[in-house]
Amino acid sequence: MAKKYRILVVDDEESITFLLKTELEDLSDFDVDVSFNGTEAINRIQSTIYDIALLDIKMPRVSGIDVLRFINEHSPTTQVIMLTNVIDYKTAIETIKLGAYDFISKPYDPQQLLATVRRGVERRQLVIDKEVMQRELNRISGPSGLVGESPVFRQALENARKIADSEAFVLVQGASGTGKELIAHLLHNESPRRDQPFVAVNCASIPDQLLESELFGHEKGAFTNAYTAKQGLVEVANGGTLFLDEVGDISQPTQAKLLRFLETGEFRRVGGTNSMKVDVRIVSATNKNLMQEVQAGRFREDLVYRLNVVSIKLPTLLERKEDIPLLIDYFLKRKAKANPKRVSPEAMAVLMRYNWPGNVRELEHVIEGATVLSRDDVIGANDLWINPSLAGHVPESPPAAISDAPDSYKSLDEIEKIHIERVLKFHQWNRAKTAQLLGITPKTLYLKIKKYKIKIDNHTES
Ligand SMILES: Nc1ncnc2c1ncn2[C@@H]1O[C@H](COP(=O)(O)OP(=O)(O)O)[C@@H](O)[C@H]1O
Ligand SMILES: [Mg+2]
Repeated sequence: MAKKYRILVVDDEESITFLLKTELEDLSDFDVDVSFNGTEAINRIQSTIYDIALLDIKMPRVSGIDVLRFINEHSPTTQVIMLTNVIDYKTAIETIKLGAYDFISKPYDPQQLLATVRRGVERRQLVIDKEVMQRELNRISGPSGLVGESPVFRQALENARKIADSEAFVLVQGASGTGKELIAHLLHNESPRRDQPFVAVNCASIPDQLLESELFGHEKGAFTNAYTAKQGLVEVANGGTLFLDEVGDISQPTQAKLLRFLETGEFRRVGGTNSMKVDVRIVSATNKNLMQEVQAGRFREDLVYRLNVVSIKLPTLLERKEDIPLLIDYFLKRKAKANPKRVSPEAMAVLMRYNWPGNVRELEHVIEGATVLSRDDVIGANDLWINPSLAGHVPESPPAAISDAPDSYKSLDEIEKIHIERVLKFHQWNRAKTAQLLGITPKTLYLKIKKYKIKIDNHTES
C-alpha cells in the first residue's frame, strides 16, 4: 500500500476545514486531521509528525503565525502552507520569511490547493533526504568535513583539535590540496572565537600593491581610485580569525608591515595617520618550506617565528594512501545524494597506484569528473582522467569521452571542451601549464575557454 501523507488543517471556520478535509481525503493518499484553534493544533503537533500543515493566519488567541513558529521549532520538516483570507501580500510574505513554504488565498482553487500540497510533500522529502545525507556524510567525516582514518592524518587532526581553543597563532603546512584550508576552518570553528568572523585572504592571488590595502584598509584619496575609505580585512576579522592563505607569497615590504601588526596588534590604513588596534587570531598556511624561503632571502625569519607559534603539518595523499577508498566513498556520496555510484575494482586499482601530485583536491576532481562521465552506476578505469604516466598504468581502451559505443559519440567540440576542462583541473586551473600540456599558446587557450564558456574555478587556484 502506498504511503499516506499526514496533513493537518487548522482553521476556526468549520466550513473551511470540512471542505479541505473532504477534498483532500478524496485522494487516497492523504490522511487529514483538523483543528479549530491554535492551541489544539499545537497539541496535535506534539504527538504526530505531519507532512503538511495548512494554517489559517487569523484565529483568535493563538494565531496561525504562532503555530508556524511552534512548527519551526518542534517539527521543522513539516511543510507549512498558510491560508489567507484576502490576498494580504504583506502578511503572506511575512509568513514566508518566518518559514512557511507557500500560501493560498481563500476562496481557494481546489486544483491549485492540491498542486501546492503535492509540492509541499515533495519538498519535505528533499529536506529529509538532505538531512539524512548530511548526517551520513558527517558520520564519515565529522562536522569538519575532514575525512581520513590513517594514523598520520589522525595525528594531524588531533593536534589541530588540541590547539584550536588556544589563542596561539598557527601555521598550517602541507602540499597543495592536502586540506590546509579545511584545517584553518576547523581551528576557527572549534575555538572560542567560533561565533566571530572567519576571514580568509589568499595572499598569492592578490597583487602585491593591493594586498596591503586589502589587509589594512585605506583612507579616502590614499591612491588613485580610492574614492572612499575602506575597512581592511583585519578590521572585518576583529574578534575572530584571520586566515592568511599562501602566506609564503607575500612580498618583502608587505612582510614588514604584517610583522609590525603581528607584534603590536596595531596597524594604519593606507594613507591614514591614526593607528588602530584589533584583536585577531592569525592562522596561516603555505605549501612552501618557509625556512628554505628564509635561507633564499625571500622571507623574513622574524615573521616566520611570529606566524609559527604552533605548526601543523598535513601529510600528502601519497603518505596516507589507505585513506583513498574512504575519501572516494565520501566524494561519491556527496556528489549523488540518493544513489551514489560505485568504483569498479579495476578503477580502484588505478586510483590506488596513482601518485596524486594534487593530493585530495585532485582526487576530488577525478571522482567528480568520473561521476559525470561514466554512463552507468559503476565508474570504470576508463572514466578516470588521470595522468597515465604517473599511474604506472596505461588504459588499454580509450577514455569514455571517445568510447566506441555509438550512443556516446560526441562532437569534436564537445570532446575538446571536456578535454580542456580536465587538463585545467589537473593543473589546478593554471593556464600556462595547461596550455603547455595541450600544445597551444595561452592566448589560444584563453579563446577556447571563452568559446566553450568553461567556468574557471578560482577557489581552487591555490
Ligand atoms: N581530509 C579531507 N577530507 C575531505 N575533503 C578534503 C580533505 N582534504 C582536502 N579536501 C578537499 O580537497 C580540496 C582542497 O582542500 P584545501 O583545504 O583547499 O587544500 P589546500 O588549502 O591544502 O590546498 C577541498 O575541496 C577540500 O574540501
Ligand atoms: Mg589552499
